[in-house]
Amino acid sequence: MRSPWGRRGERPPVPGRGASPEWESSGAGSIPDSAPDPDHLEGAGPPPIEPGLPRLAFVGAGRVGTALGCALRRAGWPVTAVASRDAARRERFLALVPGATAHAQPHAILDEADLLFLTVPDDEIVAVAAGIRLYSGQAIVHTSGVLPAVALAPAMAAGTEAGSFHPLVAFTDLDTALGALPGSRIAIEGDEGLLPLLEELAGALGARPVRVTAEGKVAHHVAAVLAAGGLVALLDVIAELGAAAGLRGEDQLGAYAGLAQQSLENARRLGTSLALTGPIARGDTGTVRCHLEALRQVAPDALPVYVALTERALLLAEARGELEQARSAELLALLASAR
Ligand SMILES: NC(=O)c1ccc[n+]([C@@H]2O[C@H](COP(=O)([O-])OP(=O)(O)OC[C@H]3O[C@@H](n4cnc5c(N)ncnc54)[C@H](OP(=O)(O)O)[C@@H]3O)[C@@H](O)[C@H]2O)c1
Repeated sequence: MRSPWGRRGERPPVPGRGASPEWESSGAGSIPDSAPDPDHLEGAGPPPIEPGLPRLAFVGAGRVGTALGCALRRAGWPVTAVASRDAARRERFLALVPGATAHAQPHAILDEADLLFLTVPDDEIVAVAAGIRLYSGQAIVHTSGVLPAVALAPAMAAGTEAGSFHPLVAFTDLDTALGALPGSRIAIEGDEGLLPLLEELAGALGARPVRVTAEGKVAHHVAAVLAAGGLVALLDVIAELGAAAGLRGEDQLGAYAGLAQQSLENARRLGTSLALTGPIARGDTGTVRCHLEALRQVAPDALPVYVALTERALLLAEARGELEQARSAELLALLASAR
């Protein structure tokens, strides 16, 4: 099916941190329960809406729905409606998205939208979609990282399109989310005819769209979870070892932050294999043996993490072709003995 909307020229990116309302984190969802004071919104108000743009509406006024609704309206897109079961969340959305209407039920916003954003928890997407029936010409997306667009099948009818639109951003408080969207990546997937619009919406947010496949959605989500929570867990191990080394306070992690940043930059620039440094890259078996002995003493919980990551590093070193086979086998046996 051909989308009823075409591609347009470049739109201004959503304003970043500092230009957003002065919200503070507050409890559940880190979004305050009361509506923000409109006087605290940007002085000049939202930019005018270009005629002919598809109308956007949101089901779910939580962290992602509220932030995307606000950001897209500030980028000049018509955000026309929100459905939320919670009166305070509806109020908050209206205060941030001037001109929108708010409803308690998802089906009530159908007449006001060309593209529906289902910004509800992953586990609720199929059930909420089942309570919606799109009209021909309408489209729907969810923002889950793990589910493919086909999860929206219960809402579909002839002549409709579905997609997924997953910002690789941690939506903590609104201000932080609005600041993080520009420059971020947004993973998109779904019906071919809808993808150009989703790419344009990502661009309007100042983000870069990346296309993932429906079959690859779970792998994509594992990657995202490792890049966020997984990295934080690794940083926790690093800080534990920093403490074991006698470092105190911020230094327990801060001492290694520069190395971590440099490694990320090198891996992006050179690729992971060439970015590898350290004893494995050098084939330094004695150092690895020394590490394993120390870990057993000072941080036994960190031992499986060290072993798993070092085995992976060994693969990278082998891929580089600089590690002698005998040395590689020796390291592998040493690591296996520590499992
Ligand atoms: N949080 C993140 O950092 C992040 C990042 C990228 C993508 N995502 C994805 O974005 C989606 C939304 O996440 P979120 O963090 O915004 O969640 P959230 O803050 O918990 O908000 C979810 C919203 O959905 C509504 N809702 C929940 N169950 C519902 C139901 N049965 N029927 C109708 N509405 C229902 C909630 O209630 P009300 O009706 O009361 O409004 C709330 O407004 C998820 O798919 C998540 O995986 C999240």
